[in-house]
Amino acid sequence: MPSVSTTQARINELSSSIHQYNHSYYCSSDSESSLLGCNDETYDSMVRELEELEKQYPEFRLEDSPTVHVIGKPNTAFPTRNHKTPMLSLGNIYSFDELFSWDADISKRLGGQKPSYVCELKIDGVAVSLIYRNGFLEAGVTRGDGTQGEEITSNIKTISSLPLMIKDKSNLEVRGEVYLKRKNFNAINQQRAINGEPLFKNPRNSAAGSLRLLDSTETRRRKLDAFIYNISEGGPQETHTGNLDYLQQLEFPVNRETIKADSIEDAVEYCRYWEEHKQELPYDIDGIVLKVNALKHHRQLGFTSSSPRWATAVKFSSEQAVSVLREVEIGVGRTGNLTPVAILEPVELNGTTVSRATLHNYDQVDRLNLHLGDHVTLEKGGEIIPKIVAVDPTLRSETAQKIEPPSNCPSCGSPAEHTAGDVEWRCPNKKCTTQQMEQILHFVSRRAMDIDTIGPALIEQLMDRHLLQNAADLYLLSHEDLSGLERMGDKSADNVLTGIDKSRQCTLSQFIHALGITNVGEKTAGILARHFGTLEKLMSAEGADLEMIEEIGPVTAENVFCFFRNPEQKQLIADFLTRGVRPREEQILQITDSPLTGKTVVLTGTLSEPREVWKKRLILAGAKVSSSVSSKTDYVLAGENAGSKLLKAEKLEVSVIDEGAAMNFLENEN
Ligand code: IVH
Repeated sequence: MPSVSTTQARINELSSSIHQYNHSYYCSSDSESSLLGCNDETYDSMVRELEELEKQYPEFRLEDSPTVHVIGKPNTAFPTRNHKTPMLSLGNIYSFDELFSWDADISKRLGGQKPSYVCELKIDGVAVSLIYRNGFLEAGVTRGDGTQGEEITSNIKTISSLPLMIKDKSNLEVRGEVYLKRKNFNAINQQRAINGEPLFKNPRNSAAGSLRLLDSTETRRRKLDAFIYNISEGGPQETHTGNLDYLQQLEFPVNRETIKADSIEDAVEYCRYWEEHKQELPYDIDGIVLKVNALKHHRQLGFTSSSPRWATAVKFSSEQAVSVLREVEIGVGRTGNLTPVAILEPVELNGTTVSRATLHNYDQVDRLNLHLGDHVTLEKGGEIIPKIVAVDPTLRSETAQKIEPPSNCPSCGSPAEHTAGDVEWRCPNKKCTTQQMEQILHFVSRRAMDIDTIGPALIEQLMDRHLLQNAADLYLLSHEDLSGLERMGDKSADNVLTGIDKSRQCTLSQFIHALGITNVGEKTAGILARHFGTLEKLMSAEGADLEMIEEIGPVTAENVFCFFRNPEQKQLIADFLTRGVRPREEQILQITDSPLTGKTVVLTGTLSEPREVWKKRLILAGAKVSSSVSSKTDYVLAGENAGSKLLKAEKLEVSVIDEGAAMNFLENEN
């Protein structure tokens, strides 16, 4: 534990660095003063560390602590203006694990309801508030310190995508981000280089500087852009998507990539997609913003001292760190896969200490030519466990031992098996305790049967006492079995049994996912459940029935078919059923056959109805909706002001249809 005086000194140091950084970030427009050698992740980790220390030692919190004030102080060159509603910032999330916890916390606060989310790009620009009175743009204000910003109206008026006049004659205040497209940023810097002026570090600094120029003619030359993402006063105020539609009707620039996600998994998919494709956008983004859709939920969820609980930023991570490989541990998965895990010298990465990294499989180990003691470069993707992205062979000793695949399972000692062409090494022993434990852990996990009263320690104890061999045995457990265990009182035993009992009424897709069929994750389980409707129909499906499902490939179809023909699995399922597990039937998706059935469609431009409406309509017609145009795209459904996707469609000679043509297709059954 650190001594009290070190803690106090650290609090002082962090507070001062954060204040300094805030000042440079928000109050300076040139490139030099806006960095101070600190990136967003370091900054966020400093804030987190300070918050943590202040929580533990409130007596050392400084009166002007940057954690209690929203950052930044207004500059004096422009008149200041109070924000009617404070302009807050967002909490940051760096891993999907954190995101799942955030989602679980939201559901808990909403009394168990699972909300819909809106996923938006986090534009890397400058936040502004725009105030419209009687339909006219009265003022544009920067965020400043969150309660008071700078009035930069004449510069805002140079942004051609922002309306100066709107149809809504009541008072409306909207919030958004002013940004600079990369091509415009490059042009500005080219000109600055010619003029011998210092270069802007990035488009965000450049946008901030341009907004605070005293000469609006120069601001206009910089060709700023904006996206509006919130209404803070006025508007329909029922759902966030409703507000965005309204903003679009009023001709505000609303980002087209925004989607509604009905589950956190869909939101994760969106985050993954954009982390990979962000370079295809003409502007910079530094993450994704997730917002709860229903505004009544916003009111229920409220705010922390500096940010709303109903929204969060999921930040893309890019930080790397170098560490040394101490050893390679072998994990045994639920299907017997033997997965190498790197054990490393602890190192700081994105604000956390990292001592393990996933190596995926031995093909990856081979590709990296990994040796014990190697200096390795780590990177955190979206996942909590970082990965090794590079190895430095020049620092390797001549006697270093190469990492080789295992000869035996580290749990049961069975000889490891490997099929030529397969990337995995496996433990073939179906009775291997670690495999069985992993299967049960998967079965009870949140995205499978969701029995949250059971964790690894309890499973281990029950297996040690031979009360549990497989997941079906959970449904035989009695109060006496449980109450004799370590740290298990009467009440905890009841809770465990209630959790198990509740899971008897699971959905069919939960149950299929929980069975742990190779290649059948949550999404495929959902597809199978909706296609077959009942467990009986799925179990008796022939290979051809499975292969005709669009999203199911031949390997998965084969796995599913073999799984339900395996006598051990058949017995296990029979045990689940006789012990009262009753997977609920699911609605079979009714696909009306039309010329769009089975086709891949990309939506682009401003459509007369929300994208979600079109997406649902197309999916119900059996079409696949994709977000990027490729040679596999069958149709691009283009609305007004379609941009790069339309150009790409034309280049690839993909058919472009409008809403009328799409409607004709949908109404014209095959
Ligand atoms: S919503 C209560 N949505 O990210 C805060 N912010 O700290 C509401 N940003 O200050 C902000 N894109 O400058 C929101 N789609 C988006 C955004 C976005 C960029 C910025 C904004 C905000 C910061 C979060």
